[in-house]
Amino acid sequence: MTYLDNAATTYPKPEVVYEAVLNTMKNHGANPGRSGHKLALEAGRTIFKGREVIAKFFNIEDPMQIIFTSNATDALNLAIKGILKKGDHVITTSMEHNSVLRPIKSLEKIGVENTIIQCNHQGILSPEDIRKAIKENTKLIAVTHASNITGTIMPIEEIGIIAREKKIFLLVDAAQTAGVYDIDVKRMNIDLLATAGHKGLLGPQGTGILYIKEDIEVMHYKEGGTGSKSQELTQPLMLPDRYESGTPNTPGIAGLTAGIEFILQEGIDKIRRHEESLTEYFIEELKKIDKIKIYGPQDATKQGAVVSINIEEEDSSEMAYILDSVFDIATRPGLHCAPMAHKTIGTFEQGTVRFSFGYFNTKEDVEKAIEALKTICEELDQ
Ligand SMILES: Cc1ncc(COP(=O)(O)O)c(C=O)c1O
Repeated sequence: MTYLDNAATTYPKPEVVYEAVLNTMKNHGANPGRSGHKLALEAGRTIFKGREVIAKFFNIEDPMQIIFTSNATDALNLAIKGILKKGDHVITTSMEHNSVLRPIKSLEKIGVENTIIQCNHQGILSPEDIRKAIKENTKLIAVTHASNITGTIMPIEEIGIIAREKKIFLLVDAAQTAGVYDIDVKRMNIDLLATAGHKGLLGPQGTGILYIKEDIEVMHYKEGGTGSKSQELTQPLMLPDRYESGTPNTPGIAGLTAGIEFILQEGIDKIRRHEESLTEYFIEELKKIDKIKIYGPQDATKQGAVVSINIEEEDSSEMAYILDSVFDIATRPGLHCAPMAHKTIGTFEQGTVRFSFGYFNTKEDVEKAIEALKTICEELDQ
C-alpha cells in the first residue's frame, strides 16, 4: 500500500513511537496521579515528561498550561466554547475545518456572533480582512495554520500582530502543521494552540493538545476525578487538572512524546524540506497531465504537503476508490469535513481527491501516484 493520506493521520509512525506505547502498557501501565505506588508514579512521570517535551517544542514557558485532549477537535471545542460567552464576537475563515466552524455556529444559539472571512479561490487569507472585521465585542480570532484541503498556509504571524494590538485572543488550529512547521507561541502571539497528536507530531490516535496562555479564563466543560483536591465536590481550578478529568491516555501520551522527540532528533527543517520536495515534484508532474485540475496555491513553499485535485468532472470518491482498489494507493476523497473550504475553492459538489505526504513517503511513492493518474486519464479516453 502506498499511503498518501497523512493529512488524516500519519502512517507509519517511527519505531520509537510503537515501542513507547508498548513499553508504557507493559511496564508501567498503572493509573497516573491516582495512587502513590511506584507504578502510578512512573505513569505520572511519563505524562509530565510529555508536557515538558511539548512545552519546549512550541516555546511554551509553563508545561502545566498544556492540556492533553483526545484529538484536535476536542482541543478546539474546549478553547472555543470555553472562551466565548453571550454577547461576544468571533472571527474565523472560510477555510476552516468543521471542528472550528461547527462549535462557532452552535454558539449562535446562545448569542455569540461570528464573522467568517472569505478566502480567495486558492484558500489564501488576507490579514487586512481580519482587521476590518474586528468589532468592539470581538474576543477571539480562530484560524487554521494550514488548510486540510489545499494546504494553504495562513499568515499567522501577521494575524498575531493584529490580535495583540487589538487585545483579542488568537486561537490557532495547527492540526495540519504541528511537527512540520516551526511554531513558537511567543513569537507568533498565539494565546491558544490546538493540535492533533496523531498527524505531523507522529503520535498515536487518541492524542491531542491544547495550550492555554497564562491567565486566560477558559471555562471547563468536563468535571470529575482529577486525583487532586478529592475532598472537594467542585472542580479544582488549577491547571492542567481543571481540564483533564478522568484517566488520561498514558500510552498515547508516551507515544506522542516519542514522536516529538523523533522530530527533534531528525530536525523539523529536514522533515519540512522533504515534504516540500515531494509536494513540489508532485505538483510539477500533475501539471503535465491535461485532464487534471489542481487546487490551492500550487507552490510547495506556500502550502503544506497536501494537494487536492480532480480529474475533469469525475466523481472524487470514484477516483479514490480506483486508486485504492486498482493501484493500492490510499488518498481521501469528498469534502474532508470542510464544506465551506470546498465552496471557497469551487469544489463543493464534486469534492476533491486529496493526496497528502508524510516524512516516510518517498519520490517513488509520488511517481507511483503520477503513473496511476496517467493510466486513469488514458482509460477515460477509451
Ligand atoms: C485543519 C484541521 N483541524 C482539525 C482537525 C480535526 O482533527 P482531529 O481528527 O484530531 O480531531 C483536522 C483533521 O483532519 C484538520 O485537518
